Amino acid sequence: MNYCKANLLDLLAIEQLEKDCFPTEAFNRRLIKNLLINTKSFIIKATTPAEKIIGDIIGITRKENNVSVGRIFSLCVLGEYRKKGVASRLVQLLEESFCLRDIKKIRLEVSTLNNIARAFYERLGYQVTSGILPHFYHDGTDACVMIKSLPQNSLLRHT
Ligand SMILES: CC(C)(COP(=O)(O)OP(=O)(O)OC[C@H]1O[C@@H](n2cnc3c(N)ncnc32)[C@H](O)[C@@H]1OP(=O)(O)O)[C@@H](O)C(=O)NCCC(=O)NCCS
Repeated sequence: MNYCKANLLDLLAIEQLEKDCFPTEAFNRRLIKNLLINTKSFIIKATTPAEKIIGDIIGITRKENNVSVGRIFSLCVLGEYRKKGVASRLVQLLEESFCLRDIKKIRLEVSTLNNIARAFYERLGYQVTSGILPHFYHDGTDACVMIKSLPQNSLLRHT
């Protein structure tokens, strides 16, 4: 599998990936386009040797109380490519990108019904907070908030 930053040429493939992975919550084309061109967001794609996009992760940065915080906005892998470590690698790459941008904390929302995603993130060091976002998703499902603190990036800067 190959991993690299997505660009505008990937717009339609990412839109299709979203539809395949999130039947009721897929991001629309306009939002994906904004995420691809905005300097505060980026999408990392996983592709097969034939350059088919089979997974992606979307990250956003923003200031909260003068502190830069990263957010995992979306993460998905096509069904037939799951349980092969693709999502773990995407999260690792996003965390590295956040680190380089001096991000110290990452947050994300996950459906309270999505036990697979929750277990997946817990395995990578994310912790469930007490925060619940009622009716966060279009189908009325609540989301829980998970966070992870990143190590200081001083080592990355000097290597
Ligand atoms: C959650 C998701 C991104 C995981 O992708 P993936 O590429 O299969 O994840 P990985 O192969 O890196 O899995 C790493 C670990 O997560 C856990 N995990 C992943 N899928 C799991 C499953 N179906 N059941 C139980 N544990 C699972 C396991 O501990 C796994 O490690 P292992 O393979 O050594 O047992 C994928 O299932 C997906 O796209 N789901 C639909 C979209 C979604 O729910 N996104 C997250 C919310 S935004």
